[in-house]
Amino acid sequence: MDKKDLPEFSVLPRHVGIIMDGNGRWAKKRGLPRYKGHIEGAKTFRKIGEFAGDLGIECLTFYAFSTENWKRPPEEVKAIMDLFREYLKELDDRKAENEEKGIKVNFIGDRTGIPKDILAMMKHSERITAKKDHVILNIAINYGGRQEILHSVKELAKDVEKGKLKAKDITMDMIDAHLYTAGMPDPDLIIRPSGEYRISNFLLWQSAYSEFWYSDVLWPDFTEENFVEALRAYEHRNRRFGGV
Ligand code: FPP
Repeated sequence: MDKKDLPEFSVLPRHVGIIMDGNGRWAKKRGLPRYKGHIEGAKTFRKIGEFAGDLGIECLTFYAFSTENWKRPPEEVKAIMDLFREYLKELDDRKAENEEKGIKVNFIGDRTGIPKDILAMMKHSERITAKKDHVILNIAINYGGRQEILHSVKELAKDVEKGKLKAKDITMDMIDAHLYTAGMPDPDLIIRPSGEYRISNFLLWQSAYSEFWYSDVLWPDFTEENFVEALRAYEHRNRRFGGV
């Protein structure tokens, strides 16, 4: 979309989380192997990421691979890993362009178990974009919300063990500070396409007051117009955070 044609909104979410669902069904509908759906899904990820950045959304979190996704057939897992490799290489190739846009890339999830070459590329991408903060692009890989909370609690327990902290003094802010998203705003809006109405272990702690928007569109078919629809719906939500 041309910059001058970008829609305007009375209120924009600061942080949008997206569960990229429906790749497998998209492929199945066309008689293609599932991995082809992930290839298309990765294209949608690039398109929507770029569009959201152009609209001025500060923080985006894409759910790319959950802690449970290792259970998929090995050829599917390999295809997704190869898509990560391709994208991570592209981040390096397009360093100057991303720098200009102020994109900071950040990976959330458990880093153990991720192939070494991908891990090295992830660290490299984070390093080369570390000084930017116009748009934070979180990519959740080997991510699970419960695991993230457990990780935070274990970090705090270490301080208790060392006598640096008393259990009774643990606060919600402390739990927050040890999450992978520490320092970032909570997601205001979570988008799930493909007709499923589940949170699937995504940003469990952070989504306590998030608005949800669902769509039947499969992720590879998800367009900028669909994203605008979600933002329009958000514009009309009355957020009360438990108040009246
Ligand atoms: C869920 O759809 C999707 C995934 C488990 C993988 C998502 C990964 C990508 C879109 C590639 C991301 C690439 C980069 C570069 C970040 P599904 O397979 O569960 O769909 P289904 O419910 O229709 O089977």
